[in-house]
Amino acid sequence: MTATDPVTVMKQEVGKAAAALVKSGTIVGLGTGSTTAYAIEYIGDRLKSGEIKDIVGIPTSFQAEVLAKKYGIPLTTLDAVEHIDIAIDGADEVDPQKNLIKGGGAAHTREKVVDSLANQFVVVVDSGKLVDKLGSSFLLPVEVIPMALAPVMRAIEKLGGKPELRMGVKKAGPVVTDQGNLVIDVKFDFIDNPAELEKTLNNIPGVLENGLFVGVADIVLVGEVKDGQPTVRQM
Ligand code: A5P
Repeated sequence: MTATDPVTVMKQEVGKAAAALVKSGTIVGLGTGSTTAYAIEYIGDRLKSGEIKDIVGIPTSFQAEVLAKKYGIPLTTLDAVEHIDIAIDGADEVDPQKNLIKGGGAAHTREKVVDSLANQFVVVVDSGKLVDKLGSSFLLPVEVIPMALAPVMRAIEKLGGKPELRMGVKKAGPVVTDQGNLVIDVKFDFIDNPAELEKTLNNIPGVLENGLFVGVADIVLVGEVKDGQPTVRQM
């Protein structure tokens, strides 16, 4: 498959670079989204060619599970293993301290469980995801249990956020997560203290998890196109 669109090329290259970090005999957290999808594909290619062996994956979403099966990566669960060696996952925004906003694919709750448990968490993004301050361009996703939607929205407004219920595309009604919950996307004018906001939001009764990942990422691989050539650099 040869892509020509520069964003797709960056995603492919950065996915390939992350897949190259996976070693034989390891437990691998498999992230969600279009960039990680390439990493999953390349891990599958490396397994198929015999370059690596004895990998087991822990998917962060139904999407990751489907892709892992498609590319021949055996799967396990957190009941069966006590650690994760490496997790590879995308992000919607990355700040200079490697803090992230995730959840564009409504998978941030399971992603945070898996990514936080990994000895090494590798983030794969194209250069368009880099921001000076989180919340600059992307709304902050918050997963909420359905019966608590109204009070959680009111509580978020009191914090100064502008919440909107995420609606489905090619599906009438709201997006429903893999856990059967809803997602509120919140516009905050400034996220000055991501660590504090992460805790404050998770403390609202009915909130399951929000998309702020503070101090979790170890390595950020950034795909760029320079002089027409795709390159990958480590932040
Ligand atoms: C899934 O909920 C998200 O956290 C994704 O990891 C994030 O949206 C990045 O996705 P893309 O690689 O498709 O931009």
